[in-house]
Amino acid sequence: MVVTPWEVKGKIDYERLIQEFGTQPLTEQLLRKVAKHTDGLHLQLARKLFFSHRDLDVLLDLYDKGVKFVLYTGRGPSGPVHIGHLVPWIFTKHLQEKFKTRLYFQMTDDEKFVIDDEAKLKETMQFGYENALDLIALGFKPENTYIIYDVQDIDLLYDIALEVAKRITYSTARATFGFQENTNLGWVFWPAIQAVPCFIHKKLTGENVPALIPAAIDQDPFWRITRDIAQKLGYYKPAQIHCRFLPGLGEGGKMSASEPESSIFTQDPPDVVKRKVWNAFTGGRPTAAEQKKLGANHDVCTVYQYMLYLFEEDDKKLAERARKCKTGEMMCGECKTDLTEKINKFLIEHRKKREKAKDVIQEFHIKR
Ligand code: TRP
Repeated sequence: MVVTPWEVKGKIDYERLIQEFGTQPLTEQLLRKVAKHTDGLHLQLARKLFFSHRDLDVLLDLYDKGVKFVLYTGRGPSGPVHIGHLVPWIFTKHLQEKFKTRLYFQMTDDEKFVIDDEAKLKETMQFGYENALDLIALGFKPENTYIIYDVQDIDLLYDIALEVAKRITYSTARATFGFQENTNLGWVFWPAIQAVPCFIHKKLTGENVPALIPAAIDQDPFWRITRDIAQKLGYYKPAQIHCRFLPGLGEGGKMSASEPESSIFTQDPPDVVKRKVWNAFTGGRPTAAEQKKLGANHDVCTVYQYMLYLFEEDDKKLAERARKCKTGEMMCGECKTDLTEKINKFLIEHRKKREKAKDVIQEFHIKR
């Protein structure tokens, strides 16, 4: 298993990640505390997609005492958005609505440029724009959603980035991120820039409040170093809530834009979605006869994972699907047909909203 901000591979053991990264599991008790504020648990919490955190309890205690917080998440625009990317964004929007709070969204066109030898700055910036359309299509509102495009907005970020960078040694950064002799300077400096949105609210508003970051757990190393220096700079430590990786449609690993057949992009037309889902890895048996007799295994099935995390909100229907799978009453073809239909229905709507987002995207650009 390898999990770093820039590489995720192998079979992911989430319990071990909690241990190795030194994060906290999301306990039932803490979930109940969240539910108090959100009248009921969001599906992604109830189904344990988000499974780990840092200081979420501290943040909620502060909130009860009247200290608000802001949300912060982001995207490295290295290519088009796939539905795995949407998962934490959907959850972020839920938190934003329930806690009525501002979201800072960092579009890291600079990061994707420095970490990839082949990348062109023009292209990562263009993907930044394209990816923002997907974000906005989920229904965020411009009043409280502030998108930061790093290259364009560096003047706003730079003073805080310097304060951060000055307090992190090269040896800490190397130990945290595994930098090598041949790592370029842009990449070595980069973590300072990802820290900035944790703190930027104070500069913009004068209000000093903590940030809560919903993100996949591979981003945790950034927050470790940021948390170490936050108080020295007069800020709260940022809190995190970590999600799993949405698996790709292939066996094992996460949905990755570098393996296009295993990812469903928001721009994939219906026939492409169908082909990808039909080629997906399932927990099925080699023959229908065997499956009828022995049943299949939904636990390892990627089609089932999509139902679980995104496309089957009804718990009873989901349980019924699992039961029919295990007992061999339902064949994989039926599940694949259902999933194809659900994804296409979602994407057709998504693309309409994405088109409309082009008219309003400017309103989401961080207001100074
Ligand atoms: N580094 C992230 C990526 O490559 C992008 C990012 C920047 C981000 N700030 C973030 C992701 C905050 C989650 C939360 O995708």
